[in-house]
Amino acid sequence: MEKKKIILTGDRPTGKLHIGHYVGSLRRRVELQNSGQFDKIFIFEADGQALTDNIDNPEKVRQNVIEVALDYLACGIDPAKSTIFIQSQIPELCELTFYFMDLVTVSRLQRNPTVKTEIQMRNFETSIPVGFFTYPISQAADITAFKATTVPVGEDQEPMLEQAREIVRRFNHIYGETLVEPEILLPDNAACLRLPGTDGKAKMSKSLGNCIYLSDTADEVEKKIRSMYTDPDHLKVSDPGKVEGNTVFTYLDAFSRPEHFARYLPDYADLDELKAHYRRGGLGDVKVKRFLSAVMQEELEPIRTRRKEFEQDIPAVYDMLKKGCEVAREAAAETLSEVRRAMKIDYFDDEALIAEQAARFAKQ
Ligand code: TRP
Repeated sequence: MEKKKIILTGDRPTGKLHIGHYVGSLRRRVELQNSGQFDKIFIFEADGQALTDNIDNPEKVRQNVIEVALDYLACGIDPAKSTIFIQSQIPELCELTFYFMDLVTVSRLQRNPTVKTEIQMRNFETSIPVGFFTYPISQAADITAFKATTVPVGEDQEPMLEQAREIVRRFNHIYGETLVEPEILLPDNAACLRLPGTDGKAKMSKSLGNCIYLSDTADEVEKKIRSMYTDPDHLKVSDPGKVEGNTVFTYLDAFSRPEHFARYLPDYADLDELKAHYRRGGLGDVKVKRFLSAVMQEELEPIRTRRKEFEQDIPAVYDMLKKGCEVAREAAAETLSEVRRAMKIDYFDDEALIAEQAARFAKQ
């Protein structure tokens, strides 16, 4: 039998999703979902993981669970094709994490580059919550409980996947072939790996106020693009400009397609021609921004409209999530029963065990 192809990926519900999430992963998920190449697709909200560094702010996570669900639906994640669920509602994930804890050393976690950076970013220093420190283990459980083969995420998640693969190898080595080693699936366009903020800063983040949200209105998007960071040395239209590190061009790399030029900027055949003109000088920021705006509005408009539609029936969205949790739970429970059997902790399901023990004690 050929191995099933199963996708699993998710997001922490700590805020509404922005276009960085969109080009870095959401857009791809929808393509993968509609490709028909996968047997199962699981997309989930990692609320438990979100709580590892928001433990005193449960309301933030609670509010954002519905926002993220709306963003998913708006982008075209279809509950008929993908199971959307919430991490905390699947207790099997805690159980698997508990077993995995024994397969990972403290020093291995300390070397995880993502954990290292995140600890620095949060100024945890010596007061790191244990749950935060060990979240790569719980993330490995998220992935393996569903026997995911394919995990579409951004490159910042690479160390997480590496750690998950190590855990799977260790588990299977000790207990026999049970779990599946997942593969990472990175965005195919370099600009999409990490979309900078509108201010040119490396990361789009709510606290920096440099995000364009999927739920922003057309006006908000327009304004944000108008004030976007470009090349600070490109003062006059006639000045030669830099394309590298110029946010407007990075966004065009992520969003524009050749057909957009025919539609909105027919003087140029493609993005290379536009970049060449900007580099030479004689092309103003305003013109490029107008083009970017047309391109982005075209892509974001249908998302916005669909979001508004789903917002009209919030109880239905919760119902969809609840059903997703039920489906996900069944899948995780199946893996967990295999895990318990492999780990020899299935005492009451193994009739042979009881008979064996009875015979052993009868001999004494
Ligand atoms: N750590 C991921 C993020 O911050 C979210 C996440 C949790 C995840 N568990 C996962 C992603 C499992 C993929 C697979 O975006």
